[in-house]
Amino acid sequence: MHPRFAFGQDSSERTRNTYLKPDIIQQRQYTLDRLNLKRGESVLDIGCGPGLLVSEMAKQTDLNGLITGIDPSLPMLEMAEKFCRDQSNTHFQQADAETLPFESASFDVAVSIQVLEYVSNVDQALLEIHRVLKPGGRALIIDTDWDSVVWNNSDRTRMLNALEIWQSHREDSFLPRKLPAKLRQARLGINNISIYPIINTRFSDQDYSYFLAKSICNHLSSKLPTAQINNWFQDLVSKEDKNDYFFSLNRYVFEITKN
Ligand SMILES: C[S@@+](CC[C@H](N)C(=O)[O-])C[C@H]1O[C@@H](n2cnc3c(N)ncnc32)[C@H](O)[C@@H]1O
Repeated sequence: MHPRFAFGQDSSERTRNTYLKPDIIQQRQYTLDRLNLKRGESVLDIGCGPGLLVSEMAKQTDLNGLITGIDPSLPMLEMAEKFCRDQSNTHFQQADAETLPFESASFDVAVSIQVLEYVSNVDQALLEIHRVLKPGGRALIIDTDWDSVVWNNSDRTRMLNALEIWQSHREDSFLPRKLPAKLRQARLGINNISIYPIINTRFSDQDYSYFLAKSICNHLSSKLPTAQINNWFQDLVSKEDKNDYFFSLNRYVFEITKN
């Protein structure tokens, strides 16, 4: 299916750079804690992006395990292969979540972090997760509900307008609220749902929301006049200058089993 947004060279590098900053390093650690991988497990990372989670998971399952990362984006796969080149228990392949090129019951664990919100047919992707998991296998899915964004600013209408344009680049920016029903439909059992918040009280190049703001500006550049975009960004800078900066959003974490 034709995606609404494809990760090309620039957006892949921007994502990788953001994911190397403290907020997302912490989120990866939380993901690993929830996954609780065992030595020797075979894991599929659906939409593996730059391979940072694959690399961490490969350290946990050790050489008896195999971590397979799939992604439709070639720039992402190139970065992932380079990042994991010294880890022989990792493997990458170009593929789409809706058509996984693996035999049924191949994996102990499947993960998909910040991916399903870009997928056109989520129901099909969930059926594929069900198919490739072994009986008793488990999965972890994380997605953001972009309605959860709280961002201190001086012009609510301008902020809502910017966020609405930003949200439109995904297939579904509000997927988490629909996932429980979709998981049940795919006969996947929900063990636990939790929220992982990202909270920033600074606007610096170490903070997730700084990179998010840069990405939003980039995205808005073809849709709004430059002066309007600059004013939106400068408003956030002025909040930081006045020590009045605040940002938060919620990632929704679904822990799943195939019964
Ligand atoms: C925001 S990045 C997250 C990357 C990675 N999961 C992580 O957390 O580091 C989203 C990723 O989903 C991938 N993606 C988008 N549509 C996809 C699809 N239909 N099937 C599989 N992956 C997809 C993108 O290419 C991109 O690498």
